[in-house]
Amino acid sequence: MPSLLVDNIGELVTNDAGRGVGGPLGIRRRVALLIEDGEVVWIGPTTDTPSADHRIDAAGSAVLPGFVDSHAHLVFAGDRAAEFAARMAGERYTGGGIRTTVGATRAASDSELRATVRRLRAEALRQGTTTIEIKSGYGLTVVDEARSLRIAAEVSTETTFLGAHVVPAEYAARPDDYVSLVCGPMLAAAAPHARWIDVFCERGAFDADHARAILTCGQAVGLGVRVHANQLGPGPGVQLGVELGAASVDHCTHLTDADVDALVSTRAGDEDGGTTTVATLLPGAEFSTRSPYPDARRLLDAGVTVALATDCNPGSSYTSSMPFCIALAVREMGMTPAEAVWAATAGGARALRRDDIGVLRPGARADLVILDAPSHLHLAYRPGVPLVRQVLHNGVPR
Ligand code: NIG
Ligand code: FE
Repeated sequence: MPSLLVDNIGELVTNDAGRGVGGPLGIRRRVALLIEDGEVVWIGPTTDTPSADHRIDAAGSAVLPGFVDSHAHLVFAGDRAAEFAARMAGERYTGGGIRTTVGATRAASDSELRATVRRLRAEALRQGTTTIEIKSGYGLTVVDEARSLRIAAEVSTETTFLGAHVVPAEYAARPDDYVSLVCGPMLAAAAPHARWIDVFCERGAFDADHARAILTCGQAVGLGVRVHANQLGPGPGVQLGVELGAASVDHCTHLTDADVDALVSTRAGDEDGGTTTVATLLPGAEFSTRSPYPDARRLLDAGVTVALATDCNPGSSYTSSMPFCIALAVREMGMTPAEAVWAATAGGARALRRDDIGVLRPGARADLVILDAPSHLHLAYRPGVPLVRQVLHNGVPR
């Protein structure tokens, strides 16, 4: 593959703080970056660039790792714009609309679902997202969960089996039977297409015992654990996730001190993030449900590893925009711009237990974003403005 030099970078966010320079974002100025075979192979001063087959002139702009969106629900049919409008007129979000989307998703053809997944994947990529996790969870039958994951796996390796999203209407009177279905034939059909398993552990969805049973079955067939936890109220999800060694617990809107302590404990002696449970915050959901935001400051001050993701789904957060989530996190959740940019890149990578993305250093994947701006600060400072000039995914301009 021909080599590619990205030259004249004004500010490079490397997230390679191990170098001990440039603060937590490992910022370097006036550098160039050389890509070969989809990998970063060299970063150095613009005064001393190696020769390359092709060259992109960043013209003094900021460059950062591609966003890692570690939480999205892209496999669905229909929209719930009317439900959104009703909320903005005063209704509360309960998660009850999930069943509306389940009905539409079951009725959709494979090609309709595929078209939606591809459209949203492309939309996210244009906004700088180079890695996106995709959950099932709107099928809730063996066949519909398996096909959701098969279609998701066509565009991402980070696929998550969320058969335990809610108990579908036909099992409402016998939730234990639904848990058996999820742990048995549904998991068997889903697992070949999934890297992760997730459960919506919340009042009205799955309690701690059901969630533990399902997550443990997933672990037994080699899936990694993530949990939808403490979104609508306090509950057992976060501590259950920590108990099971989850890579991430997501939402974290209603936390007790014991929840925060449990998350902090996962960082003890964990140099490479291999056993850390990340708190993934999803401010698009609080925005779109007009709910109080999670307290990112409390988590960061306690020493918890925080990621930001979109939660892109048709009910609680129909945005694919990581820059929007960064702006919300800074304005509404007490994060500094640097913390938010780290959380949307390196934090997302930790939440997926990946060390080849969310960072720019020799050996990392050449997933990066060239901004139409001189600094990463502009992502929060200029909300709603399309600042992504160019995206490179695996070293290929998109
Ligand atoms: O992450 N909380 C559960 N699942 C989604 C919402 C899904 C929906 O409302 O369709 C979430 O917010
Ligand atoms: Fe979600």
